[in-house]
Amino acid sequence: MDAITMIKERRSVRKFRNKKVDRETMKEIVSISRWAPSWANYQIARYTLVDDEAIIKKLATEGVKGFVYNVKTLENAKGVAVLSFVKGKSGKLDDYDIATSKANVWEVFDAGIACQTFCLAAHAMGVGTCIMGVIDEESISEIVGLPEEETVAALIVYGYEDGHAASTPRKDVDDIMRFAEAE
Ligand SMILES: Cc1cc2nc3c(=O)[nH]c(=O)nc-3n(C[C@H](O)[C@H](O)[C@H](O)COP(=O)(O)O)c2cc1C
Repeated sequence: MDAITMIKERRSVRKFRNKKVDRETMKEIVSISRWAPSWANYQIARYTLVDDEAIIKKLATEGVKGFVYNVKTLENAKGVAVLSFVKGKSGKLDDYDIATSKANVWEVFDAGIACQTFCLAAHAMGVGTCIMGVIDEESISEIVGLPEEETVAALIVYGYEDGHAASTPRKDVDDIMRFAEAE
């Protein structure tokens, strides 16, 4: 699959077949995700994979604030990646006296890049994903036993798609881009 096809054909998948993705495949997807760029190459993203039915059920009941859409997706999911990141590293240039106005927003930025890289790698390997932002970070941290220095960025539900998710509309390119012109 070429990169452009991969980007254009990835969809958020919310219906899954009753088949787990084997752990070796997931390890390969995370291994590919390591190539995501990151602030100063700190590589702060972490992936806690959940393929145990009881834990997924707990994530559905306690991890998504009861948001019915996400509860339903998790109820038929066979796998969930808890994407987290190590706090307090990105956004700093320790060897230079330079501060950026976004400060620690860069750690969330890093997590976002890691997230999309994971989703694209999964898609390339025939595994569907859906990012979830309507989540309860504290509760998820507790459920999966996240280390103290990490915080949850998102849940990424994964599995083999049942059916084929419809494509979602995109804004016209001229509505989102402009060229800066010299005066
Ligand atoms: C940061 C972020 C948070 C999201 N949160 C949710 C969510 O909580 N539940 C859900 O079903 N989809 C969620 N999505 C998926 C978006 O709804 C989806 O990406 C968008 O509608 C475009 O569809 P596509 O991914 O199929 O191209 C989220 C996506 C992103 C990037």
